[in-house]
Amino acid sequence: MAVLVGSLRRGSLNRMMASTAREVAPAGMELVDIAIGDLPLYNQDLDTDAPPAAWKRFRDEMRACNAVLFVTPEYNRSVPGLLKNAIDVGSRPYGQSIWSGKPAAVISVSPGALAAFGANQHLRQSFVFLDMPALQQPEAYIGNAAKLFDEKGRMTNDDTREFVRKFMAAFAQWIGKTGRAS
Ligand SMILES: Cc1cc2nc3c(=O)[nH]c(=O)nc-3n(C[C@H](O)[C@H](O)[C@H](O)COP(=O)(O)O)c2cc1C
Repeated sequence: MAVLVGSLRRGSLNRMMASTAREVAPAGMELVDIAIGDLPLYNQDLDTDAPPAAWKRFRDEMRACNAVLFVTPEYNRSVPGLLKNAIDVGSRPYGQSIWSGKPAAVISVSPGALAAFGANQHLRQSFVFLDMPALQQPEAYIGNAAKLFDEKGRMTNDDTREFVRKFMAAFAQWIGKTGRAS
């Protein structure tokens, strides 16, 4: 399963959450970090038989994954451009989208109280067109996230860890139910 994190920041709370998700995921669920920070901005003129190397690397790595966990901050009440660009790169060339049919789940993380709700919902809007069956419940809105980790980035809140554990178990079940054999 691919993990895409919508922040490049050192000390990213979303990156910390991705680590927590890996820690508590059910046995046998492999979480593969896929880099998106080096993807040139999508430009259809570059999408030839010889696209940018980073696009090719990303598309190949994503093709090998059976599902996608998105861990995202919210920028201006929506999905950070970093993550939207990765979605756009993966969706093309037309008819060769790497997203089609892959089960998806979203954890949105913010130091604010609204828990990046806007980014979480906007991502789900893209899933409809991308034909990604999205885990509906539980939803994962993690607010006030700066208080959840220690200085080494480890989750210190037992209730949240338990919630993420249940979330990942539900995602594993969802993948079993909706995933296509690849
Ligand atoms: C350009 C920009 C826009 C932001 N907009 C929002 C926002 O709409 N909602 C929100 O909760 N936080 C917003 N923030 C604050 C982020 O939630 C905060 O920087 C968070 O730590 C980002 O996630 P990270 O720790 O994984 O990098 C914004 C930050 C930036 C840099």
